[in-house]
Amino acid sequence: MNIGSRSEVKGLLKKGQILVNGIQVTKPEAKVDEHSVVVTFKGKEYRYRPYVYYMLNKPAGVVSATTDDYDETVLDLLRKHLLMRNGGEEAGIPINDVFPVGRLDKDTVGLLLLTNDGELSHRLLSPKKHVPKTYYVETNEVLYEDMRLNLEKGVDIGDEKLTKDASVTVIGDKKYQITITEGRYHQVKRMFGAVGLKVLYLKRISMGRLVLDDSLKEGEIRELTGEEVEALC
Ligand code: URA
Repeated sequence: MNIGSRSEVKGLLKKGQILVNGIQVTKPEAKVDEHSVVVTFKGKEYRYRPYVYYMLNKPAGVVSATTDDYDETVLDLLRKHLLMRNGGEEAGIPINDVFPVGRLDKDTVGLLLLTNDGELSHRLLSPKKHVPKTYYVETNEVLYEDMRLNLEKGVDIGDEKLTKDASVTVIGDKKYQITITEGRYHQVKRMFGAVGLKVLYLKRISMGRLVLDDSLKEGEIRELTGEEVEALC
């Protein structure tokens, strides 16, 4: 949990600096139940959590990567968020293990899940699982009904195969919502491009059963609730 190395922690135990469920424990060999134990060190409580899950409303201009030589990354945003909230690490989880689940383009905004749960990430991104992703789209021109139906049936975006069935609804003037179950590179922009339109604004609003919290402003992050994690898993 990032308190110290094995030998440092042994030293802390011997000095009586560690409480286990409120009781001072000095023996390194003491057994605990990692699912329920509360360890206290310097007044701070630690509960073992193997995984963390954050929802980010990604702003434009930030890249969906863990590191980048030029641009700010979504992990930089998470670091700032944790620093503001609790002075750094999240309950001892090394931030370097956290990554974004899939990618949004630099200019795309909206829902991005950040986690260290590789298995969940794999399930959400696996092409075999057909996890639906819904985007709000604004375009340069009107999408006429025949074009909308084409998008729903599948269009040629220059890959080997046409895109899979999608669902496209009209929200307003040059404003649409599209749900796709694939995750091809620049997929939504290329799909609208295939029917002759340019995407001017793109925002992801859901991924599987996880829906962007509309009280989160662009750039803001919050942890998923227990229900949200359960729904996703
Ligand atoms: N489709 C795109 O074209 N861009 C994204 O960022 C996500 C989906």
